[in-house]
Amino acid sequence: MKPRSEEVEKAKRNAALEAVKHVENGFVIGLGSGSTVAYVAEEIGKRIKAERLQVKAVPTSYQSLTLAVRNGIPTTSLEENPTLDLTIDGADQIDENLNLIKGMGGALTREKIVAAASKTLIIVADWRKKVKILGENGQPVPVEVLPFALSLVINKINMLGGKPVLRECSGKVGPVVTDNGNFIIDVDFGPIKNPAELEKTLKTIPGIVETGLFVGMADVVYLGRPNKVEKLKRKK
Ligand code: A5P
Repeated sequence: MKPRSEEVEKAKRNAALEAVKHVENGFVIGLGSGSTVAYVAEEIGKRIKAERLQVKAVPTSYQSLTLAVRNGIPTTSLEENPTLDLTIDGADQIDENLNLIKGMGGALTREKIVAAASKTLIIVADWRKKVKILGENGQPVPVEVLPFALSLVINKINMLGGKPVLRECSGKVGPVVTDNGNFIIDVDFGPIKNPAELEKTLKTIPGIVETGLFVGMADVVYLGRPNKVEKLKRKK
């Protein structure tokens, strides 16, 4: 049975509430993108008002910049703060080792850069995102591609056995153009037995800017349900 959307929204907010408890006074944080992070921004905004919490955020997309501004979270940049105390972000799939597929919102490149600059990466998601093997249930891996390299990248990915589809816009004709001016291809690799190896192979293809495989990056995942939250920690 399909879960009701109120249940999913409750689960996302519950996960966000737990993650926001990690934010301490004086922290500089990375603010991820997506619908679950919208609750994170809201909750941080509430704490800024209620506790006079001093916090600054590096946004990972135009969406996340807007979320920060709307919720009264001061923004900063990686130039000013090359090391971040923590990042809170969403995910599209999470496996048992806390490897992730990200990027259905198209913000994967900046998300990965900001995550790599952070001492801790906390993921917030609803329970439906947890899987045994990344790529199951037809979940594609989003890949950001330099437009000039599109046909080369598509050929190489076909040779690897992936099925790439250029992501199309809704609300505009033509392909999605990312915040970095690139295209996104969504690649169905089927279940991915070795995400680290696939990530390495993809990164050797000229023109691939970044992939949505986040391997060994997440430290903690808060998996929300309508009335509880499960905390998962990466084994070191
Ligand atoms: C954005 O590019 C993504 O990586 C999001 O973090 C991811 O798609 C999760 O989004 P939701 O929280 O909206 O499911």
